[in-house]
Amino acid sequence: MRASRLADRLIAPCLGDARGEPAPARASRFADSIILPVPESNTGVALDPTSRRSPAAGDAEYVVFDRVSKSYDGRTRVVRELDLQIARGEFLTLLGPSGSGKTTCLMMLAGLETPTSGVIRIAGRSMRHVPPRRRGIGMVFQHYALFPHMTVGDNLAFPLEVRGLDPDDRRARVRRALELVRLEGLEHRRPGQLSGGQQQRVAIARALVFEPDLVLMDEPLGALDRLLRQELQYEIRRIHRDLGVTMVYVTHDQHEAMVMSDRVAVVRAGAIEQIAPPATLYEEPDRSFVARFIGENNRLPGRVTGVRGDICDVDVSGRQVQALRVVPCRTGDPVLLSIRPERVSIAPAPGRYTNEFDATVDDVTFVGDHLRVRVTVCGQPHFLIKIPNVVGHGAVLEGDRVRIGWTPADSRVLDADADAP
Ligand SMILES: Nc1ncnc2c1ncn2[C@@H]1O[C@H](COP(=O)(O)OP(=O)(O)OP(=O)(O)O)[C@@H](O)[C@H]1O
Ligand SMILES: [Mg+2]
Repeated sequence: MRASRLADRLIAPCLGDARGEPAPARASRFADSIILPVPESNTGVALDPTSRRSPAAGDAEYVVFDRVSKSYDGRTRVVRELDLQIARGEFLTLLGPSGSGKTTCLMMLAGLETPTSGVIRIAGRSMRHVPPRRRGIGMVFQHYALFPHMTVGDNLAFPLEVRGLDPDDRRARVRRALELVRLEGLEHRRPGQLSGGQQQRVAIARALVFEPDLVLMDEPLGALDRLLRQELQYEIRRIHRDLGVTMVYVTHDQHEAMVMSDRVAVVRAGAIEQIAPPATLYEEPDRSFVARFIGENNRLPGRVTGVRGDICDVDVSGRQVQALRVVPCRTGDPVLLSIRPERVSIAPAPGRYTNEFDATVDDVTFVGDHLRVRVTVCGQPHFLIKIPNVVGHGAVLEGDRVRIGWTPADSRVLDADADAP
């Protein structure tokens, strides 16, 4: 029986309908994505960590999006001229708000949606005419469940069975996949007899069982509670490291993106705002949107009054702030200063900072390992300062007048971002 027909029969009834697509059509696409057989020339990773492959030429551009756009209705582009290169073995995360086009990018990479224009290449080969089952991709979805009426073992064996692997080989691979996600001994249970976290481990094992080179995960931990998420974040990271698979991961949780990824692409309205390792995104955002999206930061609107090399003078409500020029700007331009709360000192030694201002403490919150102090400075309320809890609480009190300071390098001049809420 053709795989998609089999899936129609098996799973169409159990798919919730999120987008009004007929259930059988969705079931077929789902089947395409989980069956995903090993390509004819299988260079996939083995589930045995010791056989991890070493990098080869061309690996820096293992997955390439070349000016890829997508429109579902022929009018609005939900992905816009996207250029992206992913190295072999990399853990890349697409991070962005709801509706920014993250799932659409994964679906196009998996071959479950077609780009309206542009080309996607894997290992140098255009995927334009390559169906999902020939792409050698494993996929984990947030919403698509396991087959509820099959045991864990049968769920895992399903992609292999459709592919025609012999029973011994199937059993061996299923066993290795279960070991990998630490679920040995549970293969005779049905999904309904597992916890949410265990079910998601099975879904991960199923994506890995046919030893793909490339694994896509779309919000795989979205439905889990915080502790379970943390545990599985660690597990996915470990699996990635052990197997050396290339991972494209989607989340809208910036913390998850930061702890898991080699690089994070911050996506907004179908385009990448910035792509960089997590530390760079945090320390050196080069767009207001990124600064706002990654970690907490203070944003002071101002106007440039002078530019000296990399340093700008910025007028913030009548106060002059020296700041690092990150975006091109000229005198008179409206800009946004981004200042991380942990980079601001309270009561610094006089003259230590070029930027020193009087502030009024509006609110102090004790959060265990640090204090969150909200002040009004340069006429701007809600300016946050984080102080590590080494001085004890009581060091700063509501209503205090304090001096605060920060360096020009820690105040970054970014675009004014007219679209910001
Ligand atoms: N099959 C479809 N038909 C029509 N429009 C679609 C379809 N799939 C997605 N869209 C639209 O495309 C845009 C991007 O959707 P997409 O699912 O890629 O976003 P996302 O970044 O994954 O969001 P989320 O974080 O909510 O999952 C949205 O406006 C969405 O409504
Ligand atoms: Mg999505």
